[in-house]
Amino acid sequence: MKKKPIIAIDGPAGAGKSTIAKMVAKELHFVYIDTGAMYRGLTWKALEEHLNLHDAEQLAELAQRTQMVFKSKRDGSVRIFVDGKDVSNRIRSERVSLHTNEIAKVKGVRKVLNQMQKDMGKKGGVVMEGRDIGTRIFPKAEYKFYLDASPIQRAQRRYLELKAKGKRVNLEKIAHALAQRDYKDKTRGISPLRQASDAIVIDSTHLSLAQVAQSILDAVRRGK
Ligand code: DC
Repeated sequence: MKKKPIIAIDGPAGAGKSTIAKMVAKELHFVYIDTGAMYRGLTWKALEEHLNLHDAEQLAELAQRTQMVFKSKRDGSVRIFVDGKDVSNRIRSERVSLHTNEIAKVKGVRKVLNQMQKDMGKKGGVVMEGRDIGTRIFPKAEYKFYLDASPIQRAQRRYLELKAKGKRVNLEKIAHALAQRDYKDKTRGISPLRQASDAIVIDSTHLSLAQVAQSILDAVRRGK
């Protein structure tokens, strides 16, 4: 039987990657893998253990002794388990969000997580989203997409998402935090966020997330 393809989706924070990747995976009956959740999961554990986030060696060692597993629930949601504990909600806290890029820039951490991600996707039939999936994890993925949207549109989406969850939020603060994360993700020395030269770029500023998911599905179904 022919191996199912790998769909890589990269892009900056707030471009709608998670929602879109989930929709595409569901439609194709593929496995959805959120690599950002892995960096967040490790950050959560580092904070729990009060590790020094500037100690690269300790962080690399932490990655080596951490088990991360994704499990699909009956309701269709995908949860992340760190050492057997469901931390899906905890990894979305402001504190974890603030510190994740410190962990994500450590070479020894990326080495371990990169290998886990390669193992998770090697059989195909996956939609994997992150920052370096099409450039580094699966440079030979059959389908690569780079999702983008204007900074204000991305901030607005994040604002509405948090507000819907009943959180007290401030649009300006969110826009500022997003701009900082973009800068850090794009300028770090190791695996920075950038477009793969062969990725299909989709600017979703004026599109709904459902429209973007549909255009990805169309591209996959017609074989690009
Ligand atoms: O996608 P996200 O916002 O949950 O990602 C959290 C952080 O992890 C973000 O700062 C970028 C980083 N990340 C990364 O460096 N490489 C990936 N493949 C995915 C996320």
